[in-house]
Amino acid sequence: MTDNFDYDVLVIGAGPGGYVAAIRAAQLGLKTACVESRKTLGGTCLNVGCIPSKALLHASELYEEAHSGALEKFGIKLTGAKLDLKQMMTEKTKAVGELTGGIEYLFKKNKVTWLKGLASFEDAHSVKISPSTDSGKTETVRAKNIIIATGSSVAPLPGVEVDNDKAIVVDSTGALSLPKVPDHLVLIGGGVIGLELGSVWRRLGAKVTVVEYLDQILPGMDGEIRKESAKIFKKQGFDIKTGTKVTGVTVKGKKATVSIEPAKGGEGETLDADAVLVCIGRKPNTDGLGLDKAGLSTNDRGQIVVDHDFATAVPNIYAIGDVVPGLMLAHRAEDEGIAVAENISGQTGIVNHDLIPGVVYTHPEIASIGKTEEELKEAGVTYKSGKFPFMGNSRAKTNRDTDGFVKILADATTDRVLGVHIISSLAGTMIAQVTQAMEFGATSEDIAYTCHAHPTHSEAVKEAAMAVTGKPIHI
Ligand code: FAD
Ligand code: NAI
Repeated sequence: MTDNFDYDVLVIGAGPGGYVAAIRAAQLGLKTACVESRKTLGGTCLNVGCIPSKALLHASELYEEAHSGALEKFGIKLTGAKLDLKQMMTEKTKAVGELTGGIEYLFKKNKVTWLKGLASFEDAHSVKISPSTDSGKTETVRAKNIIIATGSSVAPLPGVEVDNDKAIVVDSTGALSLPKVPDHLVLIGGGVIGLELGSVWRRLGAKVTVVEYLDQILPGMDGEIRKESAKIFKKQGFDIKTGTKVTGVTVKGKKATVSIEPAKGGEGETLDADAVLVCIGRKPNTDGLGLDKAGLSTNDRGQIVVDHDFATAVPNIYAIGDVVPGLMLAHRAEDEGIAVAENISGQTGIVNHDLIPGVVYTHPEIASIGKTEEELKEAGVTYKSGKFPFMGNSRAKTNRDTDGFVKILADATTDRVLGVHIISSLAGTMIAQVTQAMEFGATSEDIAYTCHAHPTHSEAVKEAAMAVTGKPIHI
């Protein structure tokens, strides 16, 4: 390191992108600091995203099982199962605390310095850190390389005011901590956050209405998956209003009135709600970062554009995770964190952006990798499709867990697998095997002739691969 610099690498933001980049840079022998303005490390994911939502999804699933009589057919009679929402929230907070504390431990172990405060550029190598607390002092640090990993925050809906403290019109952060189960929860947006957090509150007793602008829920997913999941969610009790837009939300006392009308125009109606969750997407965090002082700007979606090596237009400045274009997912940010640190240290860090799995952690789970059928059609690729329903899988049948299917899309000429889409209680785990197979360039035949343990849900992947050539056994 040149004497002019305080650090070889300064990372701005300690989410899954930033904290992983900082740890890898330090492991590679670079003097590294990470600036984070939150009180705890781990970013959106650990504090108000992946982890608390999964804690509530897990707990609410257990509650529904215990409470709904679903276990009786297995000979398990439970009476008097009661919801203790306060304890459920305490357990969620405990998990978050353990995991964010774990990152602090990893920083110490790897000698990453945590600079506490809000970062803004003074020039391409200098960053001012304004303290998060009154007692802290402002300092400026200079770094040879800077990684921007400032993540994203909730996209606002013009005309709809979110107030998490009042717990009536909330965003995802508010919906992770509602003080009581609402009688009626209205979701504005039928994407991943809506369906996951909507599932939590439905299982705990709320009536849930989804208002989705497009004609189907879960944008970006394979069409058949979107259709089948909507069918399953409706069966679970979700009221799904697609092709519908919200024109306003008013709050009076402890109630909200949501005005809706057909997206294409037409007669409107109102919905009375005890809570409204605004979940229409997320926007990159660049406000107040002083990008212009570093010679940087954003694209028309507010994102920082990078090249294949995560380099921005300014040679020593890199950007990763939700703040750059691409899927807003924690594992993508983490992989980019490793790759960018390796690139800075002179190694070759690569992320295959064509193979980033996506999982919706509802019940059943919905998991996806590679191309959808619609994308293949649009690209003019000729493909074969193999589908296998869990109705034909012995383990799923035994467990009374037959919702969903596996769908494999393979190139019609080469048989190379191009996309896999799964709805199943275990889809999030099962997607890993096909992701790995696709990384290795597998054909559907490779998967079909790989021995899968019996009886497992994974056998449905093998059978879907066999179905690509029209030869599944169990259906
Ligand atoms: P972030 O995690 O957003 O971290 C950025 C950090 O930078 C923040 O801590 C912020 O405080 C800090 N920061 C920003 N600006 C500054 C500044 N100027 N100075 C100092 N610090 C700054 N993804 C999944 O893959 N799986 C899931 O199950 C999942 N569930 C989710 C559930 C919810 C409710 C939400 C909201 C998101 C979920 N996500 C999930 C998405 C996931 O959280 C993000 O994709 C991921 O956190 C992005 O990581 P990141 O490092 O880019 O940014
Ligand atoms: P999203 O993009 O998944 O869904 C938003 C939905 O809102 C879309 O269906 C969109 O058509 C709809 N919409 C937009 N404007 C609307 C309007 N005015 N009225 C009605 N509907 C409208 O965004 P979401 O759910 O907010 O999640 C944000 C991001 O967080 C996701 O992109 C995802 O990457 C990440 N995330 C990932 C999770 C996971 O991996 N399991 C879990 C939760 C979030």
